[in-house]
Amino acid sequence: MKQFPENFLWGAAASAPQTEGHSSKNGKSPSTWDKWFELAPEKFNADQGPENTSNMYEFYADDIKRMRKIGMNSFRTSIAWTRLLPDGKTLNPEAVAFYRDYFTKMNEAGVKPIMNLFHFDMPWWLMEKGGWENRESVEAFGFYAKTAFEQFGDLVDMWTTFNEPMVHIESGYLYGYHYPAIHDFKKAVQVGYHTLMAHVAAVEAFRQVMPKGQIGIILNVSPAYSRSDEPADLKAKENADLLNIKSFLDPAVFGTVPEKLVTLLAENELLPVTEAADKARMAANTVDFIGLNYYQPGRVQAPTNPKQPAQDVSDLFAHYDWPDKKINPYRGWEIYPEALYDVAIMMRDEYRNIPWYVSENGMGVADEERFMDESGEIQDDYRIEFMIDHLNYLHQGIEAGSQCFGYQAWTFVDCWSWLNGYRNRYGFYRVDLEDNYKRTVKKSGHWFKELAERNALPE
Ligand code: BG6
Repeated sequence: MKQFPENFLWGAAASAPQTEGHSSKNGKSPSTWDKWFELAPEKFNADQGPENTSNMYEFYADDIKRMRKIGMNSFRTSIAWTRLLPDGKTLNPEAVAFYRDYFTKMNEAGVKPIMNLFHFDMPWWLMEKGGWENRESVEAFGFYAKTAFEQFGDLVDMWTTFNEPMVHIESGYLYGYHYPAIHDFKKAVQVGYHTLMAHVAAVEAFRQVMPKGQIGIILNVSPAYSRSDEPADLKAKENADLLNIKSFLDPAVFGTVPEKLVTLLAENELLPVTEAADKARMAANTVDFIGLNYYQPGRVQAPTNPKQPAQDVSDLFAHYDWPDKKINPYRGWEIYPEALYDVAIMMRDEYRNIPWYVSENGMGVADEERFMDESGEIQDDYRIEFMIDHLNYLHQGIEAGSQCFGYQAWTFVDCWSWLNGYRNRYGFYRVDLEDNYKRTVKKSGHWFKELAERNALPE
């Protein structure tokens, strides 16, 4: 048996906008997702918008029982900023009652809540003022964070500020997958900087309100592997890691933006506007732990005809198709579990061995009902195999001394996923959209229960 550390967190992750549903009800104001769906529903797979997701707003009490049934001892989701503070200032009493009951029931069931504050759901009232482009967003987020700690700090002692900040930055300002779907590298960097300072403002509020709890940030890690050891390819790898990983990981852990990143941005005329007090504030507000979401690695090479100054990240590094890669045929993403070992070692050696956990890892599958047996259960052996492979490499990293304290899969029940709607299924439970969101456990749910109860992987 490959034993995991004592008190290891076994669980799953999700987010408020992807699971709560009721996104226009119970006092909640719209986020960019609600508005975007109203403005351009055709962008969303099968016209599926955020109003109806897995509707945990109604089903949370039974869902918590379902979590226990598959051995989960922890669950990370987020609070919806637009539900708690619909206009950014005034508390919504219904939201307070809902979240308090939700977190109380989790604690009673022995499912540790880890609460995140922002999972791509920018309030519309703030977006109308420029969203993360506007420096006001920093203090607005700090106020929201402080309010959440004050309202729920007695029920939740582990918090995170952002989920995958690089995703809303790139998807909103470079790639067109998130609102406002524009292409402007300079704005993307400014949005990134304000997001970083908003994270800092939230950590600062946390230290005032919650002397005992722990706070972290959740980052997507796609470690970059370079095509060759040629200097130009290695430079591409360095650029990719600086932008994708170190841009948030270094400030979160060390309180500083890496010098090399500052130089790279300066060379490309991309430096953001900052305020004099920012540096000291960042240095004073580092985190207690890190969450890392890992799905697939980055394969990079030197760009062929880069523009100087860079107009796009593709001028700083280019992607290449690694011929040996194994693909998830049901989602198209590369499967490379070895990277989890590399990530564990990176955290041990480059990030002062700070405690961290796998905050998302999972396998998305389109049209998953094709794997349903006669009893109605999804036989997702591919998902079990995927997770075993990743856990094996994670275990090696832990054996080598990396301080990983948990593994949370994406996700617990199939959930709505932005423009992809319900296309890619990831859950331990299937959700039937035709039958009032009925949940049915998949084979992976039974497997996860055994794993979590043994706290060990069979050899
Ligand atoms: C993660 C995000 O990176 O990927 C989730 O944190 C998202 O919010 C998940 O749902 C799966 O994405 P997709 O595109 O396969 O549905």
